[in-house]
Amino acid sequence: KVIPVVLSGGSGTRLWPLSRAVLPKQLLPLVTDNTMLQETLTRLSSWADIGDPIVVCGNDHRFLVAEQLRQIDLNPESIVLEPVARNTAPAIAAAAISLKDKNVLMLVLPADHVITDVAAFEAAVRKASVAAEQGKLVTFGIQPTHAETGYGYIQSGNALSGAAGAFEVARFVEKPNAETAQQYVDAGNFYWNSGMFLFKPAVFLSELQQYAPAMLNAVTGAVAQSYKDLDFVRLHEASFAESPSDSIDYAVMEKTKLAAIVPASIGWNDVGSWTALKEVQANDAEGNATRGDVFLKDVKNTLIRAESRFVAAVGVEDLLIVETGDAVLVAHRDRAQDVKSIVDHLKASG
Ligand code: GDD
Ligand code: MG
Repeated sequence: KVIPVVLSGGSGTRLWPLSRAVLPKQLLPLVTDNTMLQETLTRLSSWADIGDPIVVCGNDHRFLVAEQLRQIDLNPESIVLEPVARNTAPAIAAAAISLKDKNVLMLVLPADHVITDVAAFEAAVRKASVAAEQGKLVTFGIQPTHAETGYGYIQSGNALSGAAGAFEVARFVEKPNAETAQQYVDAGNFYWNSGMFLFKPAVFLSELQQYAPAMLNAVTGAVAQSYKDLDFVRLHEASFAESPSDSIDYAVMEKTKLAAIVPASIGWNDVGSWTALKEVQANDAEGNATRGDVFLKDVKNTLIRAESRFVAAVGVEDLLIVETGDAVLVAHRDRAQDVKSIVDHLKASG
């Protein structure tokens, strides 16, 4: 059986002004009328051999997460609350510890990705489960289209025996610089890491013991002293806070010798910026993507999103226009990555 472990802790600063600390990307209806978290979970609902999910999120988001699960009639195995953010490796470790005595595989899923070909995704997970049963930490590889520096890169090696569609991992490099990323794309046998993983909880924990023992120690203490509060599992604050902050990619995947990869063509997009969102939305004949109450005249290749007011644009092209109740973004579409600097500015100026 496969237990989904959904990571719902990110802040998504590049989707300002819509995505905020109190309401981050995964809890917003970005692409459909469902939130990204709801999409992540409903996508699995008809699969065979899939158990109730564990959702791991920050304490501050607990009621929003619980309410969003209720809206889609989903009863989680548990909602695990992090008292402080320590990045993805400790969050995954907490779920792994709670599952380690069960005969299950855990499917780690970011809560904020788009996957358009769900049947291909399910098939990839089936292939991956054979490798995971062999004791591999399985990644899902996406064919790269450009030298993105915000992703991990995975070089595939020999085919795994007895696991059709799965390969050994020759190298896993998290977020290389632009030059290195370009070399990897040119080399042809590198994939982007999708950020999703499938493995036996005990295998992940033994790798964590080897490569990040202080983290395993802290999280083990936090789970041992956790307690149930309504539907929530509250991790022990002082113990969890002692954990080093690190991602699964740096803490384990770059170091482990047990990594495997299943290349997957699933219509994946991590919607990391407004231009990425524009790509996954329906575009009209002029290349515009709109949402909300908008009016366009002679507008091209522009994203217009009106959340609370009427927005009109005339005679412009290549823009990102996002209106919310208290802020408006206007940016050139080639500058989507710089939206993060607005959030940095706002943080610095209090
Ligand atoms: N519960 C919890 N707690 N979730 C977290 C935390 C945390 O402290 N930090 C991040 N997350 C969630 C995010 O919401 C997201 O769904 C997922 O974990 C991954 O975190 P990101 O911060 O978005 O990671 P990234 O995008 O920089 O890099 C990862 O994803 C890329 C693909 O999108 C890596 O796995 C890369 O290798 C990968 O290419
Ligand atoms: Mg991400």
